[in-house]
Amino acid sequence: LHVLAVTSEIYPLVKTGGLADVTGALPKALATYGIETHTLIPGYPSILALARLHPPLMEFDDLLGEKASLRHLEIDGISLFVLDAPALYDRPGGPYVDENGYDHPDNWKRFAVLSLAGAEIAAGALPGWRPDLVHTHDWQSALTSVYLRQMGSPVPVVLTIHNLAFQGQYSADLLPYIGLPPEAYSVDSMEYFGDISYLKGGLMTADHITVVSPTYAREILSPTFGMGLDGVLNTKIDRLQGIVNGIDNEVWNPATDPYLPFRFDMKSLRNKKNNKALLLERFNLQPGDGPLFSAVTRVTWQKGMDMLAEVADEIFYRGGRLIVLGQGDHAIEDALKATAARFPGKMAVSVGYNEPTAHFIHGGSDAIIQPSRFEPCGLTQLYAMRYGCVPVVSRTGGLSETIIDANDAALSARAATGFQFHPVRPEGLRQALRRAADAYEDKRKWARLQLQAMRADYSWDRSAESYAQVYGRLTEQRFQATH
Ligand code: ADP
Ligand code: GLC
Repeated sequence: LHVLAVTSEIYPLVKTGGLADVTGALPKALATYGIETHTLIPGYPSILALARLHPPLMEFDDLLGEKASLRHLEIDGISLFVLDAPALYDRPGGPYVDENGYDHPDNWKRFAVLSLAGAEIAAGALPGWRPDLVHTHDWQSALTSVYLRQMGSPVPVVLTIHNLAFQGQYSADLLPYIGLPPEAYSVDSMEYFGDISYLKGGLMTADHITVVSPTYAREILSPTFGMGLDGVLNTKIDRLQGIVNGIDNEVWNPATDPYLPFRFDMKSLRNKKNNKALLLERFNLQPGDGPLFSAVTRVTWQKGMDMLAEVADEIFYRGGRLIVLGQGDHAIEDALKATAARFPGKMAVSVGYNEPTAHFIHGGSDAIIQPSRFEPCGLTQLYAMRYGCVPVVSRTGGLSETIIDANDAALSARAATGFQFHPVRPEGLRQALRRAADAYEDKRKWARLQLQAMRADYSWDRSAESYAQVYGRLTEQRFQATH
């Protein structure tokens, strides 16, 4: 089975969050099911240098007025189609924002062109290769199925929602510029509260919609989590499915991780202590035996980092330390820094994005804090478990189903893997931090929690099978329809 995935991020080439981890790992996991994925990705500067070593596979003369070439690149077992359109993608900054953190003003065009290129490839523009199915991810590639249906192509499309908070909402005036007819501005198409929404367009035209955890798939049917799209999603219940994300067990393996000064597994967990000492030193924190909590995250309201700034003092009263690595909302970054300033030697805030440091933090911390207000899946808590960090999380979305709260029953059943709190408010987080600090004082209990967390298996195997089943069913239906 040949699949064309279309995405704006893919690990290890370009990543701002979990989306890249998923699009990077899923094709490898699907290969065992005989599924061969080629992933279409914009030619950002970091990718172009490598991609341009290869001659173009084909040229596009007119993608919404832009010329582009398509190049092939094979990296770490991932097969990429790189859309080389320098006017759109070869510029400084990240995939969505410029060097100063502002959205690229033409994102509406950059991701419409990506989607259009995906649709043209899927419809047969590339000589000698044609996918049996297309897999799109989030709003950035959601227009692919809109274009495909416009072209009259029946190739099945799976759309995965990683985060409903980002929807690609633009003025309907743009329709002619993205090559869509005025009719696209209607309630049963892309119309969205007086604008157009790329994600809604995808939801209306995809054959199947997956969401990155079953809990989030249920939550988004309610106004609280539906972000304005709950009405649409409720009409799509028959094709909506939650499939929990997995983790790449090779990239995140404490026994082989090149970024860890001391590697470890379940049998050599004591090595973690050495990492912890080095980690405290690296962040200029006082040495000590108290619990080391960390957060590696986008610093946003979604991730509840404002709540952490508010109640972090609880950690220090209990003799603990806190490291925060992340970037995002400047006001929340400042709030975290202000708390750190009140507790010198106890709390460090590193504003930035750093993959090796993220690994090191998991390798040396006792607990990872993730107090999200909503969380479609969340990968950090899964990496944390693998690295013997006990997750302290809010009970929402993927966090509620991947972590087993250390209540008395779960503790005696030896099933507990972390601490959950609900409702998601600062006091709840404070309470959870207190429970974690208490548990940490009982060394045997803590070690048991760590081992139980390490044993929890969140590799891609199970979830890849679910995707393989979806692909299989859709291509079978398509085959039946045409024969
Ligand atoms: P989301 O995609 O909503 O940001 P996830 O938990 O699914 O949340 O994925 C976040 C990913 O991004 C993880 O791989 C995490 O390690 C990584 N990450 C987040 N912030 C940073 C950072 N500042 N430095 C390095 N890695 C980060
Ligand atoms: C999104 C979500 C996160 C999820 C990730 C990968 O960024 O916020 O919860 O884990 O996508 O699916």
